[in-house]
Amino acid sequence: MNTSLPNLLLLLLFSYFSCFLLLAPAASAKVFLSIDCGSLSLKPRTDNNSIVWVGDGPYIQTGEIHKVNVPEVIPGFDSDALNTLRAFPTRKKNCYSIDIDDKEEDDDTTVERVLVRASFYYGNYDNKSSPPTFNLQFNGNNWGQLTTTNDSILYSEMVFSLNKSSNINICLSQTKPDNIPFISALEVRSLDSDAYSYVPSEYPLFFQFRDAYGVNKTTRYPEDSFDRIWSWIGPLESTSPLMRVRSNSPSIDVNIEDEPPEEIFRTALMRLNSSEDIAYTSTTDLTVPLHFNAYFSEVVKLNSTQKRSFDIIVNNNLDNSIILPKNPVIPPYGRALEVHILNVTAINSTVTLAFARTNDSSLPSLLNALEAFTIGEKLAQGTNSNDVKALGLLKKSFIQLQDWNGDPCLPSPYTWDWVTCNNDTDSPRITALYLNDHGLTGILPDFSAMDALETINLRNNSLMQEIPGFLGTLPRLTALNLADNNFSGTIPSSLLNNDDLKLEASGNPNLCTNTSTICNTESRVPFPRTGSSDTSPSNNPSRNNGNGSKASGQPVLILLIMFFSLFLL
Ligand SMILES: *[C@@H]1O[C@H](CO)[C@@H](O)[C@H](O)[C@H]1NC(C)=O
Ligand SMILES: *[C@@H]1O[C@H](CO)[C@@H](O)[C@H](O)[C@H]1NC(C)=O
Ligand SMILES: *[C@@H]1O[C@H](CO)[C@@H](O)[C@H](O)[C@H]1NC(C)=O
Ligand SMILES: *[C@@H]1O[C@H](CO)[C@@H](O)[C@H](O)[C@H]1NC(C)=O
Ligand SMILES: *[C@@H]1O[C@H](CO)[C@@H](O)[C@H](O)[C@H]1NC(C)=O
Ligand SMILES: *[C@@H]1O[C@H](CO)[C@@H](O)[C@H](O)[C@H]1NC(C)=O
Ligand SMILES: *[C@@H]1O[C@H](CO)[C@@H](O)[C@H](O)[C@H]1NC(C)=O
Ligand SMILES: *[C@@H]1O[C@H](CO)[C@@H](O)[C@H](O)[C@H]1NC(C)=O
Ligand SMILES: *[C@@H]1O[C@H](CO)[C@@H](O)[C@H](O)[C@H]1NC(C)=O
Ligand SMILES: *[C@@H]1O[C@H](CO)[C@@H](O)[C@H](O)[C@H]1NC(C)=O
Ligand SMILES: *[C@@H]1O[C@H](CO)[C@@H](O)[C@H](O)[C@H]1NC(C)=O
Ligand SMILES: *[C@@H]1O[C@H](CO)[C@@H](O)[C@H](O)[C@H]1NC(C)=O
Repeated sequence: MNTSLPNLLLLLLFSYFSCFLLLAPAASAKVFLSIDCGSLSLKPRTDNNSIVWVGDGPYIQTGEIHKVNVPEVIPGFDSDALNTLRAFPTRKKNCYSIDIDDKEEDDDTTVERVLVRASFYYGNYDNKSSPPTFNLQFNGNNWGQLTTTNDSILYSEMVFSLNKSSNINICLSQTKPDNIPFISALEVRSLDSDAYSYVPSEYPLFFQFRDAYGVNKTTRYPEDSFDRIWSWIGPLESTSPLMRVRSNSPSIDVNIEDEPPEEIFRTALMRLNSSEDIAYTSTTDLTVPLHFNAYFSEVVKLNSTQKRSFDIIVNNNLDNSIILPKNPVIPPYGRALEVHILNVTAINSTVTLAFARTNDSSLPSLLNALEAFTIGEKLAQGTNSNDVKALGLLKKSFIQLQDWNGDPCLPSPYTWDWVTCNNDTDSPRITALYLNDHGLTGILPDFSAMDALETINLRNNSLMQEIPGFLGTLPRLTALNLADNNFSGTIPSSLLNNDDLKLEASGNPNLCTNTSTICNTESRVPFPRTGSSDTSPSNNPSRNNGNGSKASGQPVLILLIMFFSLFLL
């Protein structure tokens, strides 16, 4: 007697694009950024929901852009945000980098909680009818694997915390041959510090779905000040013995921690047969525990002989310890109630939440809305901060490196293509730099803070001036390749005297080595000499400034995924 809701996944997919907002209410939403990936427009665009979209140029420097035709049938959605995408045919990972610009708070230890939503519409942009599978990552952590489809719009949503001084990195990584990652839209919204705060800030939340059962349209911003998407589940009355009931309360006080929009409490779902209770069943492939937030509000003012009271029974097991605050649930009239259902593991790939009236209840159970999420692994600290700063110096000095964003090492094995890291999964060190054949021109900055380096390969660039002495002080360095550059002067004794080091420095015509004649003959001194002073030992290098280019500001963001099929019994 289960009546399945038809095509939930498709409804989710097609009903989700309606929310865009630009002017976040001052009380919340410090970051409210909507990035239209693949749009080169420099002018912000305000959509029909007053959400302002910007092009993605300032947030990423890699990838290629494509246009697609978006079917016009997505009600409430801004299809313009989906009609361009950015694809990433090269590199292990490509990252958006978004600064949290919080000028009012300079306490960089304050934690900021953000919601990130990434959206994907393949639209056969490559004419291959082959929607790709790829990985999403954020700030050095795994978000999940995404499998796109030929013609659905998918989005994935995630909430995590970061220090205010940090930035947000959202990365796409190729995991299968010929599966080229792409992204259509990326949205970041600040949450109030209370939101979802019963999950410690060291852990990310990955949302699976968020459904409002009584409403007749998708609810987003501005009703929801955080612009969460509350999916509408469709015309239930016509397909199942369920009914939508409307609250007769003139107002509903929604003063609860996760601040859902008042709209979702105005309508609820019940069984049409009033001697039956409502239940939720879903099938899932997830093996990790699910966590639910269930939302309730009484729809009529009850008199003294009426009572609505029900227990939430999970997988046919009445376990009150996982229901917070507690069973039984008594929905309040004119107010909102949020109940957490914790740590629910699917049994035989099925999760059942029964809302079963207690024996003293005169009325059947009701349900306004349900959110489900999993809790991810503890957030990684990220690559050692000294190493990150030193890599920043390299990026500043060499324009060829400036489009490398995201965590250099994490998540493993998705490092930047030209570094190797050790196996520390929380705060790894950089152990190798492979900057050979990069066309680097200028002088090496002092990256001695990367003192876990074992291998440095700088072969075949145009690096100039003296070989810096700090290279000889790196305690673990065993291989240094400086061949085929324009180094000059002498090789520092710290390198020559290091018996553990394999040094390769050939192909530097102006470098004084024991096999070269340059030490005595070359005139690399910065002033002209007359005559043939072949005996002059002078080879003072001149000190130029490298062509330091500025690292461009990078923004970072978010994302998440929903996959669920759902049935209401
Ligand atoms: C915005 O609304 C206008 C007027 O209703 C409509 O013509 C247009 O198609 C809408 N744009 C989008 C992207 O939905
Ligand atoms: C945030 O700052 C605190 C204090 O400086 C530090 O211990 C913590 O590791 C930082 N967290 C992140 C994610 O950077
Ligand atoms: C895909 O096919 C269309 C029509 O045949 C063509 O206009 C377009 O350039 C093709 N796109 C790519 C990426 O090959
Ligand atoms: C996408 O469409 C092509 C051509 O219609 C089909 O061969 C392929 O199986 C489809 N892929 C998916 C994942 O639906
Ligand atoms: C949705 O419900 C509201 C209130 O019941 C009603 O005013 C509105 O017309 C409905 N909209 C649709 C599209 O059914
Ligand atoms: C309502 O549900 C009860 C209990 O399941 C059942 O006995 C009764 O026949 C149902 N009534 C209708 C009209 O379906
Ligand atoms: C309470 O309300 C119910 C339903 O409207 C009604 O049948 C009942 O008589 C009322 N009881 C009292 C004491 O008012
Ligand atoms: C969740 O349930 C599992 C298995 O019953 C248990 O080991 C774990 O401690 C629980 N976690 C929480 C946070 O309650
Ligand atoms: C799971 O499914 C198997 C096979 O259908 C069945 O034998 C088993 O009893 C089920 N387990 C539970 C806990 O329902
Ligand atoms: C209702 O259930 C409670 C606890 O399960 C029990 O103590 C009580 O006697 C029951 N009341 C009725 C009227 O059945
Ligand atoms: C890191 O782990 C990989 C795979 O487990 C292993 O092959 C490699 O030797 C490890 N490296 C170090 C430095 O421990
Ligand atoms: C040297 O690097 C350049 C790129 O900067 C590359 O095009 C060239 O093939 C490299 N030369 C050798 C011999 O590898």
